[in-house]
Amino acid sequence: MINGIKPLERSLRWGMVGGGGTSQIGYIHRSAALRDGTFTLVAGAFDIDAARGRAFGERLGVAGDRCYSDYQTLFQEEAKRPDGIEAVSIATPNNTHYAICRAALEAGLHVVCEKPLCFTSEQADALVALSRKQNKIVGVTYGYSGHQMIQQARQMVANGDLGEIRIVNMQFSHGFHHRAVEQDSPSTRWRVDPKFVGPSYVLGDLATHPLFLAETMVPALKIRRLMCSRQSFVQSRAPLEDNAFVLMEYDNGAVGSMWTSAVNSGAMHSQKVRIVGEKASLEWWDEHPNQLRYEVQGQPAQILDRGMPYLVDTALEEDRIGAGHPEGLFEAWSNLYRRFAIAMDASDRGDTDFLAQFWYPDVHAGAMGVRWVENCVRSADSGSAWVEFI
Ligand code: NAI
Repeated sequence: MINGIKPLERSLRWGMVGGGGTSQIGYIHRSAALRDGTFTLVAGAFDIDAARGRAFGERLGVAGDRCYSDYQTLFQEEAKRPDGIEAVSIATPNNTHYAICRAALEAGLHVVCEKPLCFTSEQADALVALSRKQNKIVGVTYGYSGHQMIQQARQMVANGDLGEIRIVNMQFSHGFHHRAVEQDSPSTRWRVDPKFVGPSYVLGDLATHPLFLAETMVPALKIRRLMCSRQSFVQSRAPLEDNAFVLMEYDNGAVGSMWTSAVNSGAMHSQKVRIVGEKASLEWWDEHPNQLRYEVQGQPAQILDRGMPYLVDTALEEDRIGAGHPEGLFEAWSNLYRRFAIAMDASDRGDTDFLAQFWYPDVHAGAMGVRWVENCVRSADSGSAWVEFI
């Protein structure tokens, strides 16, 4: 159980690029990073508008001379200081991730990067190679993967409780963009503009989340080929899709499907993963994250609840409040940031044995999401043909 004791003797000096006062996602990064005392926020280039970013940083308690106008100045100036930042989080629109992540690694920093890590598999490979060369951690914020019930599912699959895995059914299909809301919302506008998001909208923005949850639950499954059909129901979004279906075949004979949508009218989030094995199935839904449904063929369905002593150790270790009270996205992110800090510290100590067995959404997870989107777009744009996964 996590009870506030710091998992490390030190706190990493931490900065942010983006995540400014008007951003959607900045606060949860700070809330997660600061919760367990593993990071201390000391610098940032928080906003595309430098003056607004400085004013915001100061109100967060960051010294004015460490609120920089852009990420290049942040990395240059912090590198000159004996107490400069050791890690940085990138929470900016998607088109900037590759350049900022590369610059951060080149500056010798550990990185936490928003998804998608970048736009092409060449860029992803370059970041994988650079993080290895620089011996630095890159964590990717697939937020709910830090939830204990995902760890519970992972262990149950590994224990063989479901038997051989046959089907993986994934979806993330909300209804919030069922009409052209981008006309009134700046943070939706860039999401439907290829200049900012590259080749896809919902495949990259939404579907990579349940894709990574399923990868976490069943790490052995490797996609062999896939086919994708994508649509732009709000026509001004074309060629970017606001709805897509993907079928996948895995190399062990299992099959998978993904429905991702921003036009699922009336739906809140509908992020779900169902893993079907030869004996039993597991189902997790982000609108009820504390419950994992376990259905054994021929028996009444069971609802496993977070915090209960019957769960596996890996699900109980990161519990923060005990059973009954709800935990959710903020706690899952905190668990991820805690893992990022532990990995960064191990990397700095050269503890490769520890890192080899330690799980967190790393640069390979980020690269996999990029590759998956690329393959989906290639299939969709070839008339929804089946394509080998490359
Ligand atoms: P947003 O548009 O609400 O905020 C972007 C922030 O970045 C603003 O503060 C803006 O001023 C700042 N910014 C833009 N360019 C910058 C630059 N070059 N240097 C410094 N600051 C800059 O965007 P939102 O929704 O917060 O998304 C940011 C990222 O987080 C995106 O990549 C998005 O895909 C990702 N995201 C991830 C989620 C997750 O669950 N992991 C959920 C929501 C967003």
